[in-house]
Amino acid sequence: MNEQEYNIAGLSRQEFPMLQDAACRDRNGRPFHYLDSAASALTPESVLRAMDGYYRQYRCNVHRGMYDESARATEEYETSRIKVAGLLNAAPEEIVFTRGATESLNMVAYKLAARLGPGDEVVISIMEHHANLVTWQQFAKQYGFKVRFIGLRDDFTLDMDEARRLIGPQTKVVSVMHVSNALGTVLPLGELHDLARQHGATVIVDAAQSVGHRPIDVQTMDCDFLAFSGHKMYGPTGIGVLYGKHERLDALDPFLYGGDMILEVTEEDSKWNGPPHKFEAGTPNIAGAIGLGAAVDFVTAVGVENIERHERALARRALSRLADVPGLKIYGPTNDELDRGGVVSFNVEGIHPHDMADILGGEGVCTRGGHHCAMPLMRRLGLPGTTRASFGLYNGEKDIEALQSAILKAIKTLKA
Ligand code: ALA
Repeated sequence: MNEQEYNIAGLSRQEFPMLQDAACRDRNGRPFHYLDSAASALTPESVLRAMDGYYRQYRCNVHRGMYDESARATEEYETSRIKVAGLLNAAPEEIVFTRGATESLNMVAYKLAARLGPGDEVVISIMEHHANLVTWQQFAKQYGFKVRFIGLRDDFTLDMDEARRLIGPQTKVVSVMHVSNALGTVLPLGELHDLARQHGATVIVDAAQSVGHRPIDVQTMDCDFLAFSGHKMYGPTGIGVLYGKHERLDALDPFLYGGDMILEVTEEDSKWNGPPHKFEAGTPNIAGAIGLGAAVDFVTAVGVENIERHERALARRALSRLADVPGLKIYGPTNDELDRGGVVSFNVEGIHPHDMADILGGEGVCTRGGHHCAMPLMRRLGLPGTTRASFGLYNGEKDIEALQSAILKAIKTLKA
């Protein structure tokens, strides 16, 4: 890692209350090394301040009141939408606020699946998070279409030969993740989308692990829909986004019925508002959306390209340090040439990933052990799960050193 990469971690740590020196200890007074950002990235002061400001100064509903505080709530809420649109290179009316990536993926699948039936196919990858996989699997049972899975090559990249075999005229939807939360693999979206387009399939991207971690441009990505969560990009929990091309959102019926999503209601029928309001029935998560806007400001100020570079450098450092640990196997791309996310999954021969994560936790090294909401992937790999270290912009060399020595300690304890 170079000087600049250390600076990103050093400077950004001051922004995170949970990582400030006094607090940066676990309950036993031991150092706290947060290596679980793929599960949820920590929240910086600026996001907390934005949400606190809403609750203290203008905590009113949006799109309703004819008074200053409500007008301000509306303005801040809609400004967040503009900020998110800017981050993705989308138009504000293409940004629907949801509870998170899971709700976004369910919402779009709920609407599209009802148009599919026997003979139709949806293509996903074997790496998909349950939010994408279970959703299509269950709708397939309901409507009679088939779900096809693109597998992995030995280097944990997507098997594009299989993708070419699977995607054809019967494919109506291709719905895949951008970066695997379990392996760190980056999927070749460009090639996949070209294939999907040749057959007129709708393209959906689960970008939960990539928005805020690497530059995203929905125009060059050429997706119809894209989903992500606020809390994985330094924003609050309970807020997320469904991006949809304007004409695609316009063509969908509402997901929920209620206030704000209508233009006119009579006793007999109703007319819908346009997107995005058509999909935001009821009082939304106003503070969450405002916090998400602040998170967009935060990652933009640091520079999303810098965050990407930093996370890749951390992953490379971790891979090189862990290569020295006896009996440790990495699950994910290890070739330096390959693009990868800031996630390093591993197992040590003879040690269950839960036991490993438990001992690491006792050493103040926070990781996740288990199937990472990707049980079919783990089954294909023949694993009960993995232990996963995942990086954020606040991590540095010390966290990786701590990870390595805690793993060595776990091996000593569990294999003694
Ligand atoms: N999807 C989150 C993870 O990978 C929760 O940990």
